[in-house]
Amino acid sequence: MVKHKNEFVCSNCNASFSKWSGRCENCGEWNTLEENFAAVEENGNKSLASRSRISGKALEYSGIKDILPSDDKARLATGFKDLDTVLGGGILQGSVSLLTGQPGIGKSTLLMQICAEISRGRRVLYVSGEESAGQVKMRAERLGADSDELFFAASTSANDIAKTIESGEFSLVIVDSIQTLSLAEIASAPGTVSQVNNCGNLLIRAAKSSDTAVVIVGHVTKDGNLAGPKVLEHLVDVVLNFEGDRYGGFKTVRAQKNRFGSTAEVAIFEMDSMGLKEVQNPSAALLAERQNTDGSIILATLEGTRPILVEIQALVSPTNFGYPKRTASGFDLNRLNLLIAVLERRTKLKLDDKDIFINVVGGMRLNDSAADLAVCMAIASAAAGRKLSEEYVVFGEIGLGGEIRSVFRPDQRVAEAKKLGFTNAIGPRTVKDSFVLKVKDLRDALIRYVNE
Ligand code: TYD
Ligand code: MG
Repeated sequence: MVKHKNEFVCSNCNASFSKWSGRCENCGEWNTLEENFAAVEENGNKSLASRSRISGKALEYSGIKDILPSDDKARLATGFKDLDTVLGGGILQGSVSLLTGQPGIGKSTLLMQICAEISRGRRVLYVSGEESAGQVKMRAERLGADSDELFFAASTSANDIAKTIESGEFSLVIVDSIQTLSLAEIASAPGTVSQVNNCGNLLIRAAKSSDTAVVIVGHVTKDGNLAGPKVLEHLVDVVLNFEGDRYGGFKTVRAQKNRFGSTAEVAIFEMDSMGLKEVQNPSAALLAERQNTDGSIILATLEGTRPILVEIQALVSPTNFGYPKRTASGFDLNRLNLLIAVLERRTKLKLDDKDIFINVVGGMRLNDSAADLAVCMAIASAAAGRKLSEEYVVFGEIGLGGEIRSVFRPDQRVAEAKKLGFTNAIGPRTVKDSFVLKVKDLRDALIRYVNE
């Protein structure tokens, strides 16, 4: 017989304690300890693993050469080409994926569109614990999800949902969202560590035993963490992050973890009144409204393995009083401060009495060290009131000595710039292509090119 013993788990760092306290002793966060029920054997052993005698039997193993590859099971195409690539070829049968994102970003919309596609030929169930049947119907109608094979249920009981998944009647089950589910056995409120953890486990077991693909929605907190425990991310096969501006701009779906594919790919979406659409040519869309003013630089960046041209804007204005202000949207603020320090030290620019604002156009979030040179050139261009020729794109990493360093996949960046009609790129000396105007260091780049 199994009894329950309480422990308290920190929802921030996952450390466990035997007693509750207001502050986690491990990570120092306040109010993050939540009760968790761990199964304990009746004889008081803390867990099976703590038994001293080894009672298992030796494993049967086989040579890796002799193992037959598991047949690449049916992949369910989502109807979005790039999203399929992110998933490694579609949603794998029997896999459990977690789709995370801020409230309102479009998770339910995306999943309803996927349901619409997959239900043209397979049975799909959409379970919502957040919205009523009427609300979901309204969205489904708008998105053209009208297949006879698409079903809906409203439930917050993890047990009932797991039982339904286990029946094997559906190829795909959507659970929206994990934070609304609960198990009657557990006293704590939905969304707490023990609820999310145990409900997640139950759904995963049901999915694996019936070979049903399950997609679970998870909300994230303001700082981008999954609300509830991190452990869920370890349990599932695929973790997809849905990011971007809630209002307008591009939204991206990236795999943070993928047991069946690469995590380097990204799908880019735009929301309109007919739901989400994949953006076919993001560079052209991002550059459509560009005006060549000072402080505007086109960066050739990569989103996953896709090259994208994006405009970086800088605004430099005198500080009115006190401490100069530095703000970045779409770019890491620490990196910006570092680059400003390099600019001041390695060139003659004086920025300590200037407010500096950086904006990456289109709601993109840059995570590419090749953006360094473009950001620095944008700041220098804005500070000096001089423009870079509008025919140029820029890429390159900057070292603390102000030197321009080589970047990942320069050829793809160059190819994208050529495709969109740019005449040259400013980049590191290591790139072979004559399209690239090679610069040694930051001073060199500014003196030669930021001068109109
Ligand atoms: P939703 O998918 O409900 O977000 P989430 O499930 O992540 O919380 O919807 C996000 C927003 O998208 C919502 O505010 C309304 C808007 N929207 C559109 O602009 N067009 C559409 O076709 C739909 C269905 C929603
Ligand atoms: Mg939703």
